Amino acid sequence: MEYSHVHIVYFSPTHTSAKTAYAIAEGLDGEVLLESDITYGLPEEPVEIAGDELTIVAVPVYGGRVAETAMERLRAFSAHQAPVVPVVVYGNRDYEDALKELSDTLTVAGFVPVSAGAFIGEHSFSRKDMPIAAERPDEADHELATRFGREIRMKLQQAESLSDLKPLEVKGNYPYKVKGPSTPQAPVTNEDLCTQCEYCIDVCPVSAISIVDDRMFSDPAICIKCCACVKECPEAARTFDTPYTAMLHKNFSARREPELFI
Ligand SMILES: Cc1cc2nc3c(=O)[nH]c(=O)nc-3n(C[C@H](O)[C@H](O)[C@H](O)COP(=O)(O)O)c2cc1C
Repeated sequence: MEYSHVHIVYFSPTHTSAKTAYAIAEGLDGEVLLESDITYGLPEEPVEIAGDELTIVAVPVYGGRVAETAMERLRAFSAHQAPVVPVVVYGNRDYEDALKELSDTLTVAGFVPVSAGAFIGEHSFSRKDMPIAAERPDEADHELATRFGREIRMKLQQAESLSDLKPLEVKGNYPYKVKGPSTPQAPVTNEDLCTQCEYCIDVCPVSAISIVDDRMFSDPAICIKCCACVKECPEAARTFDTPYTAMLHKNFSARREPELFI
């Protein structure tokens, strides 16, 4: 079977999910590319994906599940038996039930998962002095993702129609892992370094940052701890201090490799 378009849908505050989706799309080459970036909000209108589009949906893992904001925004997408590649990107600890959750959710929305993958991206909490999967996806990840794209293309070319394909099995359990209670916390600003350029306001996916009493203020009740503001601050004035960084650095520094379900 042939597809006329490749459509990339991603929620990606620190860009690793987006990079992974693009690397996979490279392997599906020669097709027109459509992009739905849901990092900063919902699409203006609900999106119904046509059956001849191949969609890649790439989202980060938060707490072993799909990031909740991504889940909310993905509800805007539906399809009528259109092929999809669910992709989760995690920070070298584990993706637990996230890939299954994403794959199941897309199936309910009318997609047919044809292949899926769990890839690694630099952990949101990674710091220079305590790196966790720093700089990933790297060249090897990129190459593997592109090869994955080529394999998906071949798989679809060999099938007459979607109904020829065996239902895709991915790793993960149902019922999904129960989410722990969320502790409201947010990055803070070093006033000596901050120039109030307001770039952090622009890159926050949930509009948690505003100027209060002439200072940048992140509302812990809204913040999703994605650390986009920390990683993107041009003055390195933002920090997110969590004991998880040291724990993750100590226990999850050994390189993990992507897992592919073809
Ligand atoms: C609140 C939160 C929870 C996270 N939970 C996990 C996790 O359970 N396992 C893991 O390996 N990485 C976890 N991460 C790391 C992200 O999955 C990882 O950094 C990912 O690459 C971010 O994707 P993005 O760059 O597209 O935003 C978490 C990050 C945040 C902010």
